[in-house]
Amino acid sequence: MYIGIDLGGTNIALGLVDEKLDIVKKKKVAIIQGSSYEEILDVIAKECKEIREGIELAGIGIGIPGIVDSDSQKIIFCDNLGWKNVDIVGDLKKVLMEDIHIANDADCALYAEVLKGSAVGFKNVILFTLGTGVGSSVLLDGKIFLGGDKRGIELGHMTVEYEGESCSCGYKGCLESYASATALIRETKEPDAKTVFDQEDIKYKETIDRYYKYLAVGVRNGILAYRPDLVIIGGGISKQGDKLSVRLRDEVKKIEMYFGNETATIKIAALGNDAGIIGAAAMYRDNKKRR
Ligand code: BGC
Repeated sequence: MYIGIDLGGTNIALGLVDEKLDIVKKKKVAIIQGSSYEEILDVIAKECKEIREGIELAGIGIGIPGIVDSDSQKIIFCDNLGWKNVDIVGDLKKVLMEDIHIANDADCALYAEVLKGSAVGFKNVILFTLGTGVGSSVLLDGKIFLGGDKRGIELGHMTVEYEGESCSCGYKGCLESYASATALIRETKEPDAKTVFDQEDIKYKETIDRYYKYLAVGVRNGILAYRPDLVIIGGGISKQGDKLSVRLRDEVKKIEMYFGNETATIKIAALGNDAGIIGAAAMYRDNKKRR
């Protein structure tokens, strides 16, 4: 049995995951805004101890909402939590005495979708997660591509508007500043993205139209860079379902460039919010084999 943890910008979701990658128990706790690194670690440690009570554990996988150096297993930068250069594996091991593996949250989500979700059978895929931040992961020739320095692909921070809205990363005009839940909340002052989508026909037509236009620009850029067969949309906003994928595909079609191929298929993540938990556990399991 494994513990898979999806550490988000606003919630911690964790689950007990078995060898077949089924979640047998899960829990979600809110992160109190402004919590320190140590306070968040305390919550993770407490929840892990509780959920595994009486169960023999193989290890823990954590999906991190930021840049992870996959070789050194250190966090380089977590923009939405304000962490820089932290050794979460080392710090948690001191209290949990378990083997731990970390990876970027979007990479965990795509890994889960490849193993048992929307990406089964595909070899070239891009996934975007639309939540507090905008995460991304790229599968090339059947392998998660992390780049030369093994720190992962951050399509959420590609510039879609020169000198645009400020982003959590410190720069301006990133896709995340327009396509995240945080962007919709900033613009409408509503408590969450769902409330905004729910009022699309009443109050927020323009906001949602613009939302799709920016998201389509991001997806187009991703398609031009990696030429995937499939684009997956995950994260909280993907709960909008087929309405979102169909509309997004229409917007991408309007701005795509003709390459003689069909446009990449756009699908909603099949595993929903469970992808992060399952993927984190699977990353632990499969990296352990290689160690
Ligand atoms: C971070 C990514 C992360 C994404 C989703 C972004 O702000 O830079 O690393 O994957 O949020 O949590």
